[in-house]
Amino acid sequence: MRCLVTGAAGFIGSHLCGRLVAEGDEVVGFDNLSEGAKENLAGSPEVDLVEGDLRNEEEVASAAAGCDVLFHQAAVRSVPRSMEMPGLTTDANVRGTLNVLLAAKQESARVVFASSSSVYGDAESFPLREDMVPLPRSPYAASKLTGEIYCATWWRAFNVPAISLRYFNVYGPRQDPANEYATVVPRFILACLNGDRPIVHGDGEQARDFTYIDDTVEANVLAARAGQEAFGRALNVGGGRQPTSINAILAKIADLTSATPKPEHTDERPGDVRLTEADISMATSYIGYRPKVSVDEGLDRTVMWFGDHFGTKEAG
Ligand SMILES: NC(=O)c1ccc[n+]([C@@H]2O[C@H](COP(=O)([O-])OP(=O)(O)OC[C@H]3O[C@@H](n4cnc5c(N)ncnc54)[C@H](O)[C@@H]3O)[C@@H](O)[C@H]2O)c1
Repeated sequence: MRCLVTGAAGFIGSHLCGRLVAEGDEVVGFDNLSEGAKENLAGSPEVDLVEGDLRNEEEVASAAAGCDVLFHQAAVRSVPRSMEMPGLTTDANVRGTLNVLLAAKQESARVVFASSSSVYGDAESFPLREDMVPLPRSPYAASKLTGEIYCATWWRAFNVPAISLRYFNVYGPRQDPANEYATVVPRFILACLNGDRPIVHGDGEQARDFTYIDDTVEANVLAARAGQEAFGRALNVGGGRQPTSINAILAKIADLTSATPKPEHTDERPGDVRLTEADISMATSYIGYRPKVSVDEGLDRTVMWFGDHFGTKEAG
């Protein structure tokens, strides 16, 4: 199978590339390197990385030539960034997704689209199910919901087999800890390894459905093989366990790094939600998704990796 992975130099895209190469697929990567880095693909030299921008229809079409599946992972990710730069988020995430769908139609290819649990916003009941009305609270969430609607429409209007996967707080090795929009797991690990004070937004009791990267990658591979009943759908891809609070994540990371961090509490971030918890039964029935990695196991593997790459202290 020949595949395009947009966002190939990013966290999730690079892991997906590694998995596809290991399965013997021919992989074209596409990334503008605005966030991702070529080094993320160092372990997968077989990937043909094309530097291009999602917002450019011709660049996307040319990278997709001859592909059977387009795994669309590239996006301007981050809720806070979208609150500050809604135009950039919308251009990349909405127009960019349209460009991927146009290419898919041209190539008669399938699309697997990286959506997000953020589409639910602050729901009133849990766990979150796909039949709930989405209530996006940020331009980022709105852009992901719009991407899902385009995917479903391209299936109904043009027979493009497209499946959206709503990721829930993905974490694992290679996640970027450095920039101001970094997510909580790599930020906490780096703070604990360096003896810095981790920043906790709000009281830290907000909880998330954390999903280990290998499970997210598996969902993509399953979606690429799924039957017609999955086309046009948006499916929850969560960790399959109880949500974990931010305070509990910090405590587990502190334990794994033998650190005694003193968190600095700041205001809640605008656009952040209180709880995410996925009902994954639809993903199980439509694509056979069954997450395997617990938060304890996933954090152990992640801390180990960060210890090897950034660490001053022994992991474990
Ligand atoms: N990490 C999570 O917890 C999470 C949760 C929900 C959804 N998602 C979605 O999963 C996908 C991958 O996320 P990630 O965590 O790997 O993020 P990431 O930032 O590591 O990867 C995104 C990649 O897209 C690239 N990119 C951004 N704008 C581009 C453009 N205009 N043209 C070409 N490339 C561009 C970046 O350079 C980067 O390499 C994104 O669509 C994100 O919205 C991630």
